[in-house]
Amino acid sequence: IKSIGVLTSGGDSQGMNAAVRSVVRSGLFHGLKVFGVQRGYYGLIHDDIREMDLRSVGDIIQRGGTILQTARCLEFKTEEGQKLAADNLRKHGIDGLVVIGGDGSYQGANKLSKLGIKTMGLPGTIDNDIPYTDFTIGFDTAVSIVVDAINKLRDTMSSHERSSVVEVMGRHCGDIALYAGLASGAEAIMVPEVPFSIDEIAARMKANFDAGKRHSIIVVAEGVGKGEDIAKQIHERNGMEPRVTVLGHIQRGGTPTHNDRILASSLGDFAVRRLIAGESGKACGKLNGELVTTDIDTVVNTKKPFNTELYELALRLSQ
Ligand code: F6P
Repeated sequence: IKSIGVLTSGGDSQGMNAAVRSVVRSGLFHGLKVFGVQRGYYGLIHDDIREMDLRSVGDIIQRGGTILQTARCLEFKTEEGQKLAADNLRKHGIDGLVVIGGDGSYQGANKLSKLGIKTMGLPGTIDNDIPYTDFTIGFDTAVSIVVDAINKLRDTMSSHERSSVVEVMGRHCGDIALYAGLASGAEAIMVPEVPFSIDEIAARMKANFDAGKRHSIIVVAEGVGKGEDIAKQIHERNGMEPRVTVLGHIQRGGTPTHNDRILASSLGDFAVRRLIAGESGKACGKLNGELVTTDIDTVVNTKKPFNTELYELALRLSQ
């Protein structure tokens, strides 16, 4: 291949810029022309494509968001949209495409690969819901943001002897709640992957307060329900009045951690090398310390296994 494109798609995540930088600079290092596509698949359909050079990705490794911007594009879900996108890539002479995004973005890459474009997916989402990689780009930063927020909440909850329900992102995947909950010593962690009993949680909170605990933190993944509803249900059962904090899009911004930058840099370079080696329709990941590729078809049709061991550890330590 002589020329590649790179785009970011779906919800942004911290470290996407580091991944774009890596794809661009690695591509140029290997003598390829590199094009950036603005606003994900929307930009592919509307031909918002420009050539990148070494300087076009300067001063971005430390920035959250994505300089290429992103979009959730309905038009691309249609066959006409996909064909238009492939035609635009061909028009620019682009034979390989690196797609940085989550599940939906991978499905798009799969469609393009079936239309003859060589594609590589990079896992860019805070949710950590992509299988065949231990972590996704942005997850580490999002968890750090939640842990930092919970540290702050603990201060004020403890002064007032209150409890707190913290709603975090993660539509179908409880990993942000699990990792942040364990790292911040939450009393309960509610995730879509594990059934829980509000009765039991409310009773435990009450018993712990009666036994002298000065505060409690309940972390709820948005996939389970709204923090407000959970707080109401707790109140109905034990009379306590948990305060609710919805962290929302704060979790998707800010400077990426070194872990996310290093993961993004390694995966970006790896994706370019696999494209040069002739692979296509693959997703790149880091699994047990090894850089690997897996068929996108397999990745999008597999649910990421939930880390039950960590969940049970968090439960044991939350007494
Ligand atoms: O997929 C990433 C994510 O941040 C989810 O955790 C969240 O449910 C969703 O995106 C929010 O989407 P939007 O930015 O479109 O509101």
